[in-house]
Amino acid sequence: KKIIVKDKLNRPLRDLRISVFDRCNFRCQYCMPADQFGPDFKFLPKSALLTYEEIERLAKIFVSLGVKKIRLTGGEPLLRKDLPVLVEKLSCINGLEDLGLTTNGVLLPKLASKLKEAGLKRVNISLDSLDDELFGKINGRGIGTAPVLEGIEAAEKAGLGVKINMVVKKGLNDLEIIPMAKFCKDNGLELRFIEYMDVGSTNGWKMDDVVTKKEIFHMLQEHFELEPLDAAYFGEVAKHYRYKDTNIKVGFITSVSESFCSSCTRVRLSANGQIYTCLFNGNGHDIRNFMRNGASDEEIAERISSIWNHRDDRYSDERTAETDNNRKKIEMSYIGG
Ligand code: GTP
Ligand code: 5AD
Ligand code: SF4
Ligand code: SF4
Repeated sequence: KKIIVKDKLNRPLRDLRISVFDRCNFRCQYCMPADQFGPDFKFLPKSALLTYEEIERLAKIFVSLGVKKIRLTGGEPLLRKDLPVLVEKLSCINGLEDLGLTTNGVLLPKLASKLKEAGLKRVNISLDSLDDELFGKINGRGIGTAPVLEGIEAAEKAGLGVKINMVVKKGLNDLEIIPMAKFCKDNGLELRFIEYMDVGSTNGWKMDDVVTKKEIFHMLQEHFELEPLDAAYFGEVAKHYRYKDTNIKVGFITSVSESFCSSCTRVRLSANGQIYTCLFNGNGHDIRNFMRNGASDEEIAERISSIWNHRDDRYSDERTAETDNNRKKIEMSYIGG
């Protein structure tokens, strides 16, 4: 049976983002800065992580409550052992329409075809620069672009849908905007420019660091002719354009300059089984222990519905230049973008 649950602002529950692992092999400055996530950082112990069986069970319950789209994230999801096994389980869920994964790409040469065979539809791959030195600086590990480019190629060869995510930070990689646009256009890849966000409390975000969609758009217009496209579905995060006379899209994720909370249908499940109703709301709701203590599917469904019914988050709509540093926020590597 299908139930439609709505939150306090009348938003349905449609998308589930599952963080499968809180670790990453990168230390991107804007996400897991190396000085904060050092060798002594306490990541989740294995016993805290939801098992694949637990994730599958919860995913089915979410789908019965209206979720149509699942995205696996992290940390770096491909670091979790045997991820294709989980993909296979999820891809069989009746009523699920889309199954994607967000990754830094470096493990795709090894895993892309296995993921495709397991039923994954799409991957979103992060790439913030084509310059090896700058990219190494941004990812905090001195890793050049080659492993990511090989990952992109492997994903395309395997027949996965591919989008490229570029977080733009002023003074850091804004000079890479045009080279990245050219590269993606020449290779038929959809690129999405992401406004740098104040997620978590470790990246030292300032409004001045944000390069807005408007600024990026003006830069692009000096090199390309762009045509606006309609949203593909209610609640789509990116705003899209097409390069004239092509089918190649380019998008903008405007969480800062043009927030999209009013159509936010996303719920997040962290690697240790906490439910978060907003990327910026650090109050998680435990579901793991509830489940491990023997709750039935009906009881879990009821708890999830109730969490969603009480939801009134709209952080990006309310954000001001002085972000409220007293607010309890949560690191993106843990909750999953
Ligand atoms: P598609 O299904 O391909 O549209 O994926 P997506 O764009 O929803 O997911 P992805 O993991 O590629 O995320 C791209 C960027 O959008 C990341 O920087 C996310 O943090 C950001 N993002 C995704 N969902 C939300 C959201 O609900 N709120 C905010 N503020 N940012 C979001
Ligand atoms: N602001 C915007 N996007 C971010 N991401 C990680 N941290 C931030 C941030 N502070 C992006 C990653 C990846 C996606 C899941 O989120 O680059 O593409
Ligand atoms: Fe890892 Fe992605 Fe965060 Fe970079 S943005 S540190 S690749 S999880
Ligand atoms: Fe949704 Fe929160 Fe992002 Fe707004 S800030 S779009 S409510 S996750």
